[in-house]
Amino acid sequence: MSHVEIRNVSKQFGAIKVMHDLELAIENGEFCALLGPSGCGKSTLLRMIAGLETVTAGTIHIAGREVTDVAPDRRGIAMVFQSYALYPHMTVRQNIGFSL
Ligand SMILES: Nc1ncnc2c1ncn2[C@@H]1O[C@H](COP(=O)(O)OP(=O)(O)OP(=O)(O)O)[C@@H](O)[C@H]1O
Ligand SMILES: [Mg+2]
Repeated sequence: MSHVEIRNVSKQFGAIKVMHDLELAIENGEFCALLGPSGCGKSTLLRMIAGLETVTAGTIHIAGREVTDVAPDRRGIAMVFQSYALYPHMTVRQNIGFSL
């Protein structure tokens, strides 16, 4: 994965703020795991990195390029969904590659 930087990202759904000024840098080749209780925002963060969810504030950078408002198919990145959105006849690699 390319170097990913999350700068001061907040996310609000209506009146409810679910992410507060998150700062995170994932280096090229680094393996990063997000751990936390259910509802803490792990999937929301992945969706924002992939471009499937807007950010309320802050910016997202991939490989040195700001992608905060870039469409998902123009980010060069993909995600495997937590549930029921995988193609069962495809391998993990094929599921990821399909959306790219
Ligand atoms: N589309 C949405 N509209 C309103 N609230 C949402 C929406 N998506 C997520 N949320 C809320 O945002 C918070 C973070 O949800 P998220 O799914 O990112 O948590 P999670 O850490 O992935 O949880 P889990 O471990 O159960 O997968 C939760 O309070 C959730 O109810
Ligand atoms: Mg989740």
